[in-house]
Amino acid sequence: MNNFDSIAPVYDALAKVVFWGGIERANRFFLSEIPSGSRMLIVGGGSGKILEDLAELYDDLQIVYVESSKGMIDRAKQRKSGVNQITFVHASFPQVTIQPQEFDVVMGPFFFDLFDAGSLLLILETVRYVLKHSGLLLVSDFRMEEKRGWHRWLSWSMHGFFRCVAKLQSEKLRDLDTEIISAGFAPKKQRCFYGKFIFAAVYQYTGNL
Ligand SMILES: C[S@@+](CC[C@H](N)C(=O)[O-])C[C@H]1O[C@@H](n2cnc3c(N)ncnc32)[C@H](O)[C@@H]1O
Repeated sequence: MNNFDSIAPVYDALAKVVFWGGIERANRFFLSEIPSGSRMLIVGGGSGKILEDLAELYDDLQIVYVESSKGMIDRAKQRKSGVNQITFVHASFPQVTIQPQEFDVVMGPFFFDLFDAGSLLLILETVRYVLKHSGLLLVSDFRMEEKRGWHRWLSWSMHGFFRCVAKLQSEKLRDLDTEIISAGFAPKKQRCFYGKFIFAAVYQYTGNL
């Protein structure tokens, strides 16, 4: 399930063409919210463009980069990622050993939409477990408004395409914002892109669940 190896060589170019750079813009938008010196977990970062974006803003982050595709993580290792300290982990989240409250920030860029409801819940519970009290969760992903026909069409096409090429686990686009909030994260900031089909958001784990 969710195997991006075959599409790794063309994923970034394809995403750029289809979404007119909206994916990169969303991934970058809230990076300045990260406190300097943070210990940060990035899950499903893909080919690592985000590491270059972080290097433009920070030189003192400690980043753990968990990515399940070898094709993607090999590309990420080639990025000019500045002097931030990066530990690459080729593994499937949440099947990784991480200590409780190890991170100030967790980021999942176009990651949470890959999963069915049960797996998403387990992933969010693990994110809660590894985040420090008041830690931040940065999410960029797709969203759908039922009343917009083209949102429904694009979501259906993307799921069909990625089910074929990457054995996508998710069968439909979930309302990620609602599910993340229900899992105990308080919304702090949100911004939409690409005709509101893409969002970037910052949540804070308040430790109430
Ligand atoms: C849709 S791509 C997003 C890539 C990149 N973050 C971006 O914004 O363009 C999802 C990425 O998550 C990775 N992935 C999927 N399941 C994963 C898992 N369980 N643990 C870690 N990475 C995973 C895939 O290999 C892929 O690189």
